[in-house]
Amino acid sequence: MEIPTPALVVDLDRFERNLQTFAEHCRTSGCAWRPHAKTHKCPEIARRQLAAGAIGISTATVAEAEAMVHAGLRGVLLTSPIVERGKIQRMLALARTPNAVLLAVGNDLQLDVLAEAAASSRQIVDVLLDLDIGDRRTGFLPGEAVLEAARRITRSEFLRLRGLQAYAGHASHVASFEKRAQVSQQAVGKAIQTKELLAKAGLDLAILSVASTGTYNIDSAIRGVTELQCGSFIFMDADYRRIGGKTGPVFTDFQPSLTLLTTVIHANYPDRVTVDAGIKAVSTCIQVKPECISHPGLSHQWTGDEFGIITAEGGIKLPRLGERLEFIVPHCDPTVNLYDCLYAVRGERVEDVWPVTARRGARGIV
Ligand SMILES: Cc1ncc(COP(=O)(O)O)c(C=O)c1O
Repeated sequence: MEIPTPALVVDLDRFERNLQTFAEHCRTSGCAWRPHAKTHKCPEIARRQLAAGAIGISTATVAEAEAMVHAGLRGVLLTSPIVERGKIQRMLALARTPNAVLLAVGNDLQLDVLAEAAASSRQIVDVLLDLDIGDRRTGFLPGEAVLEAARRITRSEFLRLRGLQAYAGHASHVASFEKRAQVSQQAVGKAIQTKELLAKAGLDLAILSVASTGTYNIDSAIRGVTELQCGSFIFMDADYRRIGGKTGPVFTDFQPSLTLLTTVIHANYPDRVTVDAGIKAVSTCIQVKPECISHPGLSHQWTGDEFGIITAEGGIKLPRLGERLEFIVPHCDPTVNLYDCLYAVRGERVEDVWPVTARRGARGIV
């Protein structure tokens, strides 16, 4: 099968190695994992993560949670707080299936709407309290505010408090392992203190869900952390590669398994060729450039919606008309969100085509 370009390709050997590396790390560090599906939005991939030992799947949108539960997956955590009644009703519909979902609750309004909706449908809902441990994005501030929210949940007949979620997005891409470790340990430390505060008040919580790909081996070593919700490790991207790992300036714990495949469609000039991947083919949300892995030394610049310009450095030959190039994408999550499917490839063979099912919800509703 010839893959029509531009397309996203998953190298199955690398993908499976990333999965095994992560699973092995979790086994040896004694941490559970509930990997984030915001990276792939694809039940086929989530299924493989569960088969490799994940205890569930994290999701960022209601549409992602629906796609996962409808595909038969369980232990689906919605990590984003939601306050709209319609979305809460959709999550309650999923919660009718035993052990299907958990909701992160990050503010009083969500707590009010969820408690009322759960009571009126007489339905038990499992929740984690979302903490703001420095990201300043969502969640209760650690300390007394959390204790008050926890007490409200335990007073509610239909909400069951299972634990805490504490995501430190501000730590995930800090360059240099040592600096990243400092930022993440300080942030997750606030979650540990909050967990202890709740325990002293008689609320012993089973779950503390944390971590990004950048901090997976930092957070798993913190006593009290019970599960990791990293996502990007399965694909990797150019932005993550540059943060540096434990042993060097490139973060190589996981291999880039996702690439953008593009074709040279114009080659009339000595200094450049044109490919069929422009700004509609890759998310340009960050300043990092795509990294050419099929032809090292070539660089890609955006030139329009559908076109990219390829130039060569250091005497490297430009590719010919019709030739195909592969790039590591700058940021995997929003790039995957641009595509309806992923081509799963082993060597030269397309083994499967995986739909990016949760790219949009039913009738475009996220
Ligand atoms: C709440 C939450 N958890 C986990 C992750 C996974 O992070 P990463 O894809 O960097 O591993 C994200 C990513 O943005 C997130 O928002």
